[in-house]
Amino acid sequence: MNILEISNLTKHFGGLTAVNDLDLTIKKGEILALIGPNGAGKSTVFNCVAGVYAPSVGEIRFKGEVISGQKPWNLSRRGLARTFQIVKPFGPKTVLYNVMVGAFLRTNSTKVAREKAEEILTILHLEHLRDRLAGNLTIADRKRLEIAKAMATDPELLLLDEVMAGLRPTEIDEMIGIIRGVRDRGMTVFVIEHIMRAVMALSDRVVVIQFGSKIAEGTPEAVTKDENVIKAYLGGEYGVSGN
Ligand SMILES: Nc1ncnc2c1ncn2[C@@H]1O[C@H](COP(=O)(O)OP(=O)(O)OP(=O)(O)O)[C@@H](O)[C@H]1O
Ligand SMILES: [Mg+2]
Repeated sequence: MNILEISNLTKHFGGLTAVNDLDLTIKKGEILALIGPNGAGKSTVFNCVAGVYAPSVGEIRFKGEVISGQKPWNLSRRGLARTFQIVKPFGPKTVLYNVMVGAFLRTNSTKVAREKAEEILTILHLEHLRDRLAGNLTIADRKRLEIAKAMATDPELLLLDEVMAGLRPTEIDEMIGIIRGVRDRGMTVFVIEHIMRAVMALSDRVVVIQFGSKIAEGTPEAVTKDENVIKAYLGGEYGVSGN
């Protein structure tokens, strides 16, 4: 079953076409990576799916229902959660509090929200930091906190926008393990990622976009051998192996 179906998605910002007639589907339980050069339109795709922007043209279906143009909070309720490329925790609040805010989407009970938040902090390897102020965390821990906040809303589909950016190689390995674990718990994961080592290790399937249009789609092995992808993306500043 396709949990997400994007058909003919186009998004204009004034005279700029950020996403151009994009078709993309994600099967339930899949990890799909969306890759492409800076400014290709990746985050705009996420913003259209998550309800930040209404598409200019096209349709987005989540669990079979049309969701294009719906508001983010409605979509969270329906089971769609996302992280932001620029992380924004409630800095003056504790790590535990930040995650409990997500959990309150599904419960009014502080006890239930706390238990849920504690469970998720353990999955994200953040339990030892539960009483720290979010604003004092390292980049790697803030990235994990973003995922924890999203997971606390109990999503069926989790959108992760560059959660590996700025991490050290060992932190990237840890994050790969965490995201695989999240999928193994039954979530479907849609990631935007520049670090090719992570894309290769994580994804079942990869979609490559350039100037808002799809230029390739397939297994990580197949897309990294694709001439167009090498020309548009991998052969340039990133290098095939990433970091
Ligand atoms: N709110 C906006 N208003 C105007 N232009 C925008 C807006 N959001 C994005 N854009 C433009 O749309 C294009 C696609 O941007 P987007 O952020 O989706 O790219 P991206 O693939 O996520 O890039 P990166 O890898 O750098 O994060 C860019 O040219 C960007 O400047
Ligand atoms: Mg982006």
